[in-house]
Amino acid sequence: MAKMTIRDVELKGKKVLIRVDFNVPLKDGEISDENRIVQALPTIEYVLEKGGRAILFSHLGRIKEEKDLAKNSLDIVAKRLGEHLNKDVKFIPVTRGKVLEDAVDELKDGEILMFENTRFEDLDGKKESKNNPELGKYWASLGDIFVNDAFGTAHREHASNVGIANNIKQTVAGFLLEKEINFIGGALENPERPFVAILGGAKVSDKIEVIKNLLKVADKVLIGGGMAYTFFKAMGYEIGQSLLETDKVDLAKELLELSQGKILLGDDVITAKEFNAESEKNVRTINQIPADEMGMDIGPRTIQKFESIIKDAKTVVWNGPLGVFEFPRFAEGTRSIAQALTEIKDQATTIIGGGDSAAAVIQFGLDEGFTHISTGGGASLEYLEGKLLPGIECVDNK
Ligand code: 3PG
Repeated sequence: MAKMTIRDVELKGKKVLIRVDFNVPLKDGEISDENRIVQALPTIEYVLEKGGRAILFSHLGRIKEEKDLAKNSLDIVAKRLGEHLNKDVKFIPVTRGKVLEDAVDELKDGEILMFENTRFEDLDGKKESKNNPELGKYWASLGDIFVNDAFGTAHREHASNVGIANNIKQTVAGFLLEKEINFIGGALENPERPFVAILGGAKVSDKIEVIKNLLKVADKVLIGGGMAYTFFKAMGYEIGQSLLETDKVDLAKELLELSQGKILLGDDVITAKEFNAESEKNVRTINQIPADEMGMDIGPRTIQKFESIIKDAKTVVWNGPLGVFEFPRFAEGTRSIAQALTEIKDQATTIIGGGDSAAAVIQFGLDEGFTHISTGGGASLEYLEGKLLPGIECVDNK
C-alpha cells in the first residue's frame, strides 16, 4: 500500500518531528561510518527549505546502566550533522522537560534542533524500547506532524516511532524510508526478471526466513559465505574445519529440495588451516576439502559461475559477505561479486541489504556502483523475510 510522504504535506511553520536512525558506529569517540547521516540529509534539507521547524531525534547504542549514557550521547552526531548542513544544529541534552519544550517553542521556520538519545529513556523502565504509551504521547505533543525516516529502526516498535505515530494527527515517510520501501519492497513485490538473490554471512540460522521468502520470489538464490558449508554438508560433502551448524543440516536439505534448483552453491572454495589474515590459502573443489582445513572464501570457479548468472540479472538483492572479507587474502570472492554487480548497474537494479555486505563494498570503494545500499541491518533482514515492519506500518497510507 502506498504511503504518505513529506511531499504530500504542508511543512511551512510546522513543528516537524523527524525520527532518523543515527545509530552510527563510533570508534574511539569518533563516527567511523556516517552513511546513515548522509542518507538522512535529503529529508532534513527538504523540511528546512520548505520552512518547517525541524525537531530531530534518534537512538544510539543500547542503554542499560548509568555508565552507558555519556558514551552514547548524540552531541557528536549533532555536530557532524551541522557540518553537513552547513547550519547550526542546536543540541538539547535531554529527552524531555522544560529545556526541550522551550527550545521547541523558540524554533523559527527553517531552523533545526536535535534532542538527546531516545534510549536514555530506557534507563528508567525501558520506556523507549517498550513503547511506553505516556512517552510516545509526550514526544508527539512536541510537534504538529511526524516524519519517520528511520528505516534502520523500522523493525522496532518503540515510543519514538510507533508511539509517536499513535498519538499524532499525521505520520509521513521521509525520503530515505520511501527509498528503502521502493527498492527493497519493490524488489520483493514486483521485480524485473531475472531476479537473483545473493546470500552469505556466517550462519544459516540467521537467514532461514530470508531464504524461504526469497525462494518464493527470486529466480536464483546464490549462496556463499560461512553458511554455505552447512549446505555442502547437507549435500554429503566433507567440509573439514569449516563453519557448521549441525542442527541445521536437515533444514538445509529441506531448503535444497524446496528450492527445486533455484539455490546454487559453489563448486570450489578457498581454504586455510587457521582462521587468521596470514594463513596460507589453498583452492579446493568442494569434494576435496581436507579434514584440517576450513573454508574462508568462494573459489575462482564459483566466482565465474556466479558472475555468469549475475551478468543477465535485472534485479539483484545481496545480503551477507561471501568470505572472510576482513582479511584481504580471503576477500577476493566478495570483491569479485561486488565488482560484477557494479558492471550491471546500467541494466539492473542492484540492492545491498545492509550490514556486513554494505561494509564490504564501502571497504572496497565500490559503493557508488550500486543502485541502493540499505541503511538497515536487522530491518533489511526482516523486510527480506517478508515481515511487516512496525516503523513502516505506522506511516499513514495514501
Ligand atoms: C540498527 O543499527 O540495526 C538499528 O539502529 C537498530 O538498532 P538496535 O538493534 O539497537 O535496535
